[in-house]
Amino acid sequence: MNKHSLLSMQDLSVDDIFSILHDARLFNNSYRDWQFPFQKALVANLFFEPSTRTHFSFASAQHQLGCQVEDFNAETSSVQKGETLYDTVKTFEAIGYDAVVIRHPKDAYFKYLEGVNIPIINAGDGAGNHPTQCLLDLLTIYDEFGTFKDINVVIVGDILHSRVAASNKDALERLGANVFFSGPKEWEREGYPTMDLDKAVEWADVVMMLRIQKERGATLDLGVDYLTRYGLNKERYARMKEHAIIMHPAPFNRGIEIDGDLVECEKSRIFKQMSNGVLVRKAVMKRAFGLEPFKD
Ligand code: CP
Repeated sequence: MNKHSLLSMQDLSVDDIFSILHDARLFNNSYRDWQFPFQKALVANLFFEPSTRTHFSFASAQHQLGCQVEDFNAETSSVQKGETLYDTVKTFEAIGYDAVVIRHPKDAYFKYLEGVNIPIINAGDGAGNHPTQCLLDLLTIYDEFGTFKDINVVIVGDILHSRVAASNKDALERLGANVFFSGPKEWEREGYPTMDLDKAVEWADVVMMLRIQKERGATLDLGVDYLTRYGLNKERYARMKEHAIIMHPAPFNRGIEIDGDLVECEKSRIFKQMSNGVLVRKAVMKRAFGLEPFKD
């Protein structure tokens, strides 16, 4: 496996995380127009699962960096003839691609790609990891509070099926934040400490809502509506701390996990997260090509 691959947040030390956040911030300031200092940067985006934000913010980042970008479509590819993931990715390596971005529904699909030599960037594996989503979440929190130390974060909803919850737990705890989880009992995860939502909205500096991952089998017969029981409604919003913020990886379902009017309210950073996604993906692409972090 190429040493510049990014498969999970566990691939990154705390120093690595801060280097990526530092580069991402500079991409929004003095390095706004920076491009790769070489001609050939041919990248392919292989999405085996639906995506809007991750796919197109990677594409935006890659184009801004001067990469040549190709999108792979599994439906019109030789996957339909039975080609394996490994053989598909080895093919991209053999025909001259310098890096690949992959989203796949299988947890830890990258374990099958040990023999690939070009950098692989994980854009989400099943319920496993979503490292670039985590990095953009970290950038959003860091922009807001200037630290992670003792920041109270509650992650709310379908924890069991969420790769966002998993990646954020790992990174935020290492960075010194206090992380709790809230949601239906059926979707709790072993080792993930829980807090009652009505207490958590008053405790948290960051309220991170999650979508119900129906595509991973999340079903629940609640008997009452989800928003009232487990969602961020206006009554809970009114009890949040003055400086607290709302986050959501999106796509969000207005009126289910979050009141539709709160998506763009004063405390919401949901669309800022998406903008930050382009910045961190520029930094991650730069790292994938083996370039050192910016000096200033
Ligand atoms: N947050 C996220 O991964 O969104 P997409 O599924 O649209 O990429």
